[in-house]
Amino acid sequence: MTDPTLRRLPVERLTEAQAAAELAALAEEIAQHDRAYYQEDAPKVSDAEYDELRLRNQAVEAAFPALVRADSPSVRIGAAPSAGFGKVVHARPMLSLGNVFTREDVAEFIAGIRRFLLLDEEAPVELTAEPKIDGLSISLRYENRRFVTGATRGDGRTGENVTANLLTLADVPKTLPPGAPVVLEVRGEVYMSRTDFLALNSRQMEAGAKPFANPRNAAAGSLRQLDPSITASRPLRLFAYAWGEASEESWSTQWAFLDQLESWGFATNPRRQLCASVDEALAVYDRLAADRHGLDYDIDGLVYKINRLDWQQRLGQVSRAPRWAVAHKFPAEQARTIVRDIAIQVGRTGTLTPVANLEPVTVGGVVVSRATLHNEDYIAEKDIRVGDTVVVQRAGDVIPQVVEVVLDARPPSTAPFVFPATCPACGSHAPRHEGEAARRCSGGLICPAQAVERLKHFVSRDAFDIEGLGGKHVEAFWTDGLIHRPSDIFRLAERRDDILQREGWGEKSVDNLLKAVDERRRISLDRLIYALGIRQVGQATARLLARQYGSFALWRQAMGEAENPESDAYRELLSVDGIGASMIEDIAAFMAEPHNREVLDDLERQVTVEDFVAPVVTTSPVAGKTVVFTGTLETMSRGEAKAGAEALGAKVAGSVSKKTDYVVVGADAGSKAKKAQELGLTVLGEQDWLALIGT
Ligand code: IVH
Repeated sequence: MTDPTLRRLPVERLTEAQAAAELAALAEEIAQHDRAYYQEDAPKVSDAEYDELRLRNQAVEAAFPALVRADSPSVRIGAAPSAGFGKVVHARPMLSLGNVFTREDVAEFIAGIRRFLLLDEEAPVELTAEPKIDGLSISLRYENRRFVTGATRGDGRTGENVTANLLTLADVPKTLPPGAPVVLEVRGEVYMSRTDFLALNSRQMEAGAKPFANPRNAAAGSLRQLDPSITASRPLRLFAYAWGEASEESWSTQWAFLDQLESWGFATNPRRQLCASVDEALAVYDRLAADRHGLDYDIDGLVYKINRLDWQQRLGQVSRAPRWAVAHKFPAEQARTIVRDIAIQVGRTGTLTPVANLEPVTVGGVVVSRATLHNEDYIAEKDIRVGDTVVVQRAGDVIPQVVEVVLDARPPSTAPFVFPATCPACGSHAPRHEGEAARRCSGGLICPAQAVERLKHFVSRDAFDIEGLGGKHVEAFWTDGLIHRPSDIFRLAERRDDILQREGWGEKSVDNLLKAVDERRRISLDRLIYALGIRQVGQATARLLARQYGSFALWRQAMGEAENPESDAYRELLSVDGIGASMIEDIAAFMAEPHNREVLDDLERQVTVEDFVAPVVTTSPVAGKTVVFTGTLETMSRGEAKAGAEALGAKVAGSVSKKTDYVVVGADAGSKAKKAQELGLTVLGEQDWLALIGT
């Protein structure tokens, strides 16, 4: 590690000897992080911390060009990526879970379910309560009752093929008994017990290897071994809790399914309980929270699932999480530490985010050395100062937070933090607009931080997903002028020789990168929209837009026109459920920026944007149709009606226009029904609608 006092010295005050010492230390430290990240899947620091090391290295090198080392991280990129695992496309996506933290949230979860299903306020709703294991989720596929493929979750749709490794787990049945479905995907959590984790770590240390930070990392690192014999030597366990594809479902409740799992030879969690009410579920939570530290494995909460499968079916999912399940997380773990420094980060849309650099401290088994401070007001409200002792907390994967200042421990010399009014990356004015919490850099395209962050977002997993081109590479390529705008990525083949000259890149790795780039020359419309990094346009919105406009050309045209709030395009956009006026403002602002239009033009020359295909049965009579629901429906809530229509490939709009295909009217329908009639649209009663969709 570099002497931290040295690192705080401004570069211009370093002596040559200090600079040389620091560059040597940085080279060593960054190489260690690269190995941890690329080869061991166990990053020891956050991306931001890593970025800071590289930036510091760059700055020192710029001031002392004669001292650039042969093994400098600026000339060497990453560590050779692992030869890797094959990919497995999950027959059914592996979902994640929404989180709740309070008892009220749990009650509201159930109240929302009752509303969705149009149940009475007091109607009994049975829940299963299962400990939420802090491991990694996997999917096991059985065909003809033999284990054929095992995969990690990956991005939920595609995971890594770790069949050979999963075969080494005693808890994974290799065959299923007669009576089990012919095709079955079982999902569960691979974990390592605390006892085994401690024993493994002491073996690691004896062998001179690095210990794992926590059982979760140990389990992940052990499962993702290219050599299955290493996995076999690691004591991994499995709890099963869900299924993906199943050729037949002989169970009608989650509880019955868990029992089936047991009868087929899987371990299910012994602390699972069937609960008749929210109160019962909360009692299970309290007991588990009290016993939590006595268990021999880490859990981070309790998962509640609606027991009845017919209800689960009706409830469906939102984005990537089922509506019928939720995770009730344990309270965040806290610790005290000292604020060393407050740094300002610049995000891809120019938002200035303050971050506290902390004296490293272990919180819930993980070393924390940075925490978010959210924004200017947050710092002012809590009066967080450099030098203060603070309480930090982390909950699950959430970024650690500073919760409060321990005023009694404040040294006399501290001063209130003054938030900068200019961007630390480009020096531009960073004003704070009315009604906004954050200051935003006004440097736009000249701001290097924004440019790099936008590119990182562009190649990220849910966007273009270019394998082998991680954030760190983007940064290095950007610094050296290999890529400046998104389309440059698709011209990297022209810079093949330049890349080859960089240390760490050989013929093979460059070819792999160029191949990965080429594989992304076709992209779905929703991914492309998301990749652009427009403010407020996340994945869900990008999908809504793609679904609404279908093709890149139509989308672009409509977005250009929607700048004018009087236009039809504006009204159409506003009618899309889930899109509001402020979002449209951001989209229009993006489209109005000439540079962004150039980026789009340029991209269009490099990639083919596939039209949006609704991921549904196109045989449904309402696929591709636009439907408006109005008035009070009798047999289902508005939420269920909407979800059901969308599942059949229909678009659900919030207002009636010429483009509406069906207007479904319930009781007491008002102006929308009237407007539908005026426009001569097809107006259906609730029963007509149900008949149309075949329910
Ligand atoms: S059910 C369809 N049950 O938590 C619902 N997940 O935060 C999918 N997890 O990705 C998950 N214990 O890795 C379920 N008893 C349990 C679980 C559990 C741990 C993990 C799982 C999931 C994550 C979501």
